[in-house]
Parts: sequence; structure tokens; C-alpha cells
Amino acid sequence: MPQGGTAASSSSHVRRIARRTRDSCAAALANTLCSLLLGLLLVAAVVLFVLWLGLRPHRPRFNIASFSVAGGLDPDYSPAGTSLAFNVTDRNPNRHIGIYYDAMHASVHFYDALVASGPAFAARWYQPNKTTTSITGLLDVLGPATTDASWPSFSAAVRSGRVPLRLQLTTAIRFRVTNAFHSGRQRMHVSCDLLVGVDGNLLPESHGAACNRYF
Ligand SMILES: *[C@@H]1O[C@H](CO)[C@@H](O)[C@H](O)[C@H]1NC(C)=O
Ligand SMILES: *[C@@H]1O[C@H](CO)[C@@H](O)[C@H](O)[C@H]1NC(C)=O
Repeated sequence: MPQGGTAASSSSHVRRIARRTRDSCAAALANTLCSLLLGLLLVAAVVLFVLWLGLRPHRPRFNIASFSVAGGLDPDYSPAGTSLAFNVTDRNPNRHIGIYYDAMHASVHFYDALVASGPAFAARWYQPNKTTTSITGLLDVLGPATTDASWPSFSAAVRSGRVPLRLQLTTAIRFRVTNAFHSGRQRMHVSCDLLVGVDGNLLPESHGAACNRYF
């Protein structure tokens, strides 16, 4: 019996050692696999970040090229009934990414008063990578009327020869990364602050002025 007892206890001792060795081996293996996996994840994250830095879409840039109110402005008469023409250059700065535009709406304000409003580009269109497009429009001038609350300050601005107007373009864009991959649609407001003289044309300091974009 003591012999058998010793044999049994030594065999259970061996089993214990074997189990402990196996457990610690498994733990070490799991550890190695875990570190390897974490390392791979880290490398993938860095690669994705670098790719994103290089490929992320840049938003288009807008500059005012020309703007004119037909017949000019008069401090004693409302410009309503005439028309105004604008030309804004639109640059897609992306080397590989094209831009889809929804139909575009244009409006012109003198501070809060509406001067003109209407469609600029009535249909959807596509702008290829690294190209510049001219967005032109011809709008009916609606105001301000001489009876409007804004008239005195409008008239005074015309008299001073510097009329601050804001041309706003509203649309939505999507980036085309590849044939199969497009970004989601996002609303875009382009706001161009410009100064117009009595002749109805841009003052020199507004030529080529950059427009702000809001998303
Ligand atoms: C708009 O302005 C751009 C840049 O000055 C010019 O190249 C283009 O011909 C103009 N477009 C129209 C219709 O006047
Ligand atoms: C526009 O993108 C395509 C596809 O990435 C490319 O082959 C082409 O050279 C690009 N065009 C310009 C002008 O960069």
C-alpha cells in the first residue's frame, strides 16, 4: 500500500507538472499571439492613417471672377427690374477625386435685404479631378425697393461708391473616389463678400476674392 500510495502520488505530481507546463505554454502562446495581433492592428492603423492623409478629399475652392449689375446703380432709384451677372471660378484641387454637384441656387443680399435670387446651375454636374469650372449666372434684380427699411443704407452705400453685397451659392456635393466608391452627400454654402461701384461692376479689391464655404 505505501508503495502504491507513493506511485499514485508521484504520478499525480507528474500530471500536475504536465498540466502546469501546458497551461503556462498556452498562456505564453496566447501572449505571443496577442502581441502579434496588437502589432498588426497598430501597423494597419498607421497605414490607414497615412493613406487617409494622402487621399482624403479636399473641398472645392471658389473665387469671384466678375459681377455686374446691368445699367449700374443709382442712389435715387431702386435697381429692381434690372439684371445682374456673376462669374465664380470653382477649383477642384484633388489630384484623383472628382466632385458631383447637385443643382445650384444663387442669391444676392445687401446685409439682410434680398437683392436677387434664382438658379445658377439648374442640373447636376460632374467636375473632374484638378479642373477649374466657371459658375456663371444671370439673375433678375428684385430689390431693395425705395420703400424698404434697407433703402436708406443702400442708397447711402451707392452714394459712397462702395456697395457691399454677398453672393451666396447653395448646393450639395459628393466626392467620387473611384467608380464604385462615392462619399455621402453634404450640403455646401459658398458665400462671396464683394464690393460693387456705382457703375455696377466689382471694385478692384474684390477681383479674384476668395469665397467662404460652409458645410
Ligand atoms: C469666367 O471667368 C473665368 C476666369 O476669369 C474666365 O476664364 C471665363 O471665361 C469666364 N466665363 C464667362 C462666361 O464669362
Ligand atoms: C485624374 O484621376 C485619374 C484617376 O486617378 C488619373 O488617372 C488622372 O491622371 C487624373 N487627372 C489629372 C489631371 O490629375
